[in-house]
Amino acid sequence: LTSPPLQINRTSHHEIHTSAASSAIWASPLNNYQRKSVNTIRSRSLSTETTWNESSLPEKIKSLDEYKVLYDFSIKDPNRFWKMAAERLDWYRFPTKIKNTEFDYRCERGVDIKWYEDGILNACYNCVDRHIEHDHSTAQQVALIFEPDTPTESRHHVTYGELLRDVKKFANVLKKHGVKKGDRVTVYMPMVVETCIALLACARIGAIHSVVFGGFSANNVAERVSDCDSKIIITSDFGVRGGKCSPLKAKIDQALKMKQCSAVNTVLVFQRNHGMPEMKDDCADLRSSLEWKDGRDFWVHEEMEKVNEICEPERMNAEDPLFILYTSGSTGKPKGIVHTTGGYLTYTNLTFKYVFDYNPGDVYMCTADVGWITGHSYAIYGPMSNRATTVIFEGVPTYPDVSRYWNIIDKHQVNIFYTAPTAIRSLMAHDDKYVTHTSRQSLKVLGSVGEPINPEAWEWYHTVVGEKRCPIIDSWWQTETGGMMITPIAHAWELEPGVATLPFFGVQTKLFDKATKKPLNPPNSGELCISDSWPGQARTLYGAHERFVDVYFKQYPNYYFTGDGCEIKENGYHHITGRVDDVLVISGHNIGTAEVEAALDHHDHVSESAVVGYPDPKKNQGMYCFVTLKDDVEETEELRKQLIKLVRDMIGAHVTPDFIHFAPNLPKTRSGKIMRRILRKIVEPDISNLGDTSTLTDPSVVDDLIKKCPRTK
Ligand code: WTA
Repeated sequence: LTSPPLQINRTSHHEIHTSAASSAIWASPLNNYQRKSVNTIRSRSLSTETTWNESSLPEKIKSLDEYKVLYDFSIKDPNRFWKMAAERLDWYRFPTKIKNTEFDYRCERGVDIKWYEDGILNACYNCVDRHIEHDHSTAQQVALIFEPDTPTESRHHVTYGELLRDVKKFANVLKKHGVKKGDRVTVYMPMVVETCIALLACARIGAIHSVVFGGFSANNVAERVSDCDSKIIITSDFGVRGGKCSPLKAKIDQALKMKQCSAVNTVLVFQRNHGMPEMKDDCADLRSSLEWKDGRDFWVHEEMEKVNEICEPERMNAEDPLFILYTSGSTGKPKGIVHTTGGYLTYTNLTFKYVFDYNPGDVYMCTADVGWITGHSYAIYGPMSNRATTVIFEGVPTYPDVSRYWNIIDKHQVNIFYTAPTAIRSLMAHDDKYVTHTSRQSLKVLGSVGEPINPEAWEWYHTVVGEKRCPIIDSWWQTETGGMMITPIAHAWELEPGVATLPFFGVQTKLFDKATKKPLNPPNSGELCISDSWPGQARTLYGAHERFVDVYFKQYPNYYFTGDGCEIKENGYHHITGRVDDVLVISGHNIGTAEVEAALDHHDHVSESAVVGYPDPKKNQGMYCFVTLKDDVEETEELRKQLIKLVRDMIGAHVTPDFIHFAPNLPKTRSGKIMRRILRKIVEPDISNLGDTSTLTDPSVVDDLIKKCPRTK
C-alpha cells in the first residue's frame, strides 16, 4: 500500500456524552429567576397537557398552546432552551457557554455571533457513528435510498453501517491527498449518494466543504474556487438528469484552465454508477473522452482501494466552520456564507425533528439539490443527525413523466416529502390523473420551500397530492439562516394557504417601514428583520466580514435584515411577500441581478444593462433585461440570442433571461444612477403607478421604454 501512515486519533468512546447521559451530567440547577420564569410560563399553559419539563425538550410539539409555552421560554431564556436543544447531539465536551452574540455594529465588539463556543463535537460523528454506537442494530438501518434518474436502473440502498465505512474510507482518501482540518474543499457533484459521503467525510476530518451547484458554469466554479482558496475539488465524471448526461469533470477542466484556479492541485473524480452495468451511450462517450491530468486527477474508486477503514472523527470546536455555501447578493460577487459546527447542527437537528414531526422509521424525501442550502440542511445534516432514512433523488420531477414524484413516493413508501413551489406549479399544469393514479397513502407531511407558494398551488398540493390528510409545511428560511425560521409545525396548528404561519423557537421577528425605517406594530406589512440571534445563523461571509455586516446588519441597526417583505396578520401569522432587494427568486433559485448585468456587460456590443424581475405565475419571477448597445450596433435577433447564451454560459443553464429589451436610453437620476424602481413598474406592468419621475434627467425615456415593452401591451 502506498498510503502514508494514517494519523489515528483514538478517542475513548466513554468520553462522548450521549444525549441521554448528557442531560443528567450537564443540567445545572435552576436559579431563582429561571425557576420563576419557567413556572409563569407553565401556568399559562391552560388547556394542554404538555410533555415539556424543566430538564429536557419534548419529543413533539402537539398544539398551539404547547408551542406558545415553549416559544415564550425560548425567548425569555435562550440559554436554557438552546442548552436543552444541544443535548440532542453528542459532544466530546458539552458547552458551558451557550449564547454569546452581538448584533449591533455600532458597539465596540461589532457584529459577532457565537454559540456553544467552548463545546467540542464532530458533525459527521453526530450524523452517522453515534446512531450505531447507541444501538448496534442501526448499522443495518437504511440511511440513504438512492433513486436514480432512470427508474429502472438498479438502485441501491445504503445502510448506516455501509455509510460509516465509506465515509471513513473517503475521509482517508482526503487525508492521503493532504487535506487537513480547516482546508476548503470544493464539491461539484450531482445528486447522488457519493455526494453525501463526500460532505460527511469533509466534516469528519474538519475540512470545510464548499458545494457548487452542478448547473453552474465553469466560470462560476472558478470564481468560487478562488474566493475560498480551495486546492482540491471533488467531482463526478458526469451527472444524469432527465435522461440527459451532463459533463461535470469536463467543466472542472475548463475552470482549472482559468488563472484564478492555479492553486488547485488535486481533483478527485467519482464515477457515476461505478460498478453498475447500465450506462447510456452519451455517458459512455463522455467518460471515454475525459481529459486526464496525471498527478492531479484521481478516480475515487481507485483511491478507495488504497486506504483502510479506520478514521477517528476530528474534535471540532463548536465555532469551527462546517461549510461555505455561495449565494447571490443584490450587488457584487456571490457571498460565501459561513456556517459553523455546533449551532448549525443543533438548529437543523431540532427544526427537522419538530417541524416535520419526524419519528423513527419514517421515510423522508427532500427534492432539493445538495448545491443549495435545503440540500445541506434538510437532505443531509438535519435528517441524518436524527437517524432518518432519506431518499436521494438524482432526477427531475417530469422524467420519464410527470408522475415521477408520486411514483417514487409509492415505491419507497415516503412519509414526509419536501419540495419547492416551482415543482408543484409545473406539475399542477398537467391533468390530475398523473397524481391520482398513484396511491400516496404513505404520505403524512408535505413541505414547501424556496419561494412564496401561491394559494392555488398550495390548495392543489394539499387537496390533490395530500388528499387533505397532510399538513403543508410552508417553511420560510434562507441560506443565511441555516434552517427554517418561520414555519408551521406538523399537526400543531391550523394552516392557511400560502402562509408560513409562526416563527420557530428562538426566532423573534420585527417589521420595519421601508421609507421611514421605523418599526411597525403588527398587524402590518413591512421589511422583515430578526431581533436576536439563533444558533443556525451564518457567522460571516468567507473572508469578508465587513460585507456581512453591511448587507445584513446596517439597514436596521441591531437587527438582522432578511431582504424579504412580510405581512403579519391579526392572528400573528406571517405571510412572506417576496424579496425587497435586487435578488430575483426564479423557480426557487436566487439570482442576483448584478451578476446577470455583469454577464451582459461582458459582450463587446453592450454598453450597459439593467435587469429586473416581474411576477410570473409559474416561476415566481421572470427575468427582464434592459440592454443599451454601443453606438452603431444593430439590434438583431442574432444578438439577442447571443446575449441569452452568454448569460447561461457565464452563470449557469438555470439562469435564462426571459426578455432582452434593447433600450438606447435608461431612466437615470442626475447622479447617473439607473432608476430600477421605474423599470420594475414598467415590466410588472404597473405603469399607472410609476411614482415620482421628476428626478430623472430625461423623463421621456420612460415613455419610449413603455412603448417598446411587450409586457405593457
Ligand atoms: C425565498 C432557501 C416565501 C425568500 C431555503 C428567501 C421563501 C429566499 C420561502 C432564500 C417561503 C424561501 N415563502 N419565500 N416558504 N422560502 N423563500 O437562500 O425570498 O436559496 O429570502 O434559501 O427564498 O433563498 P435561499
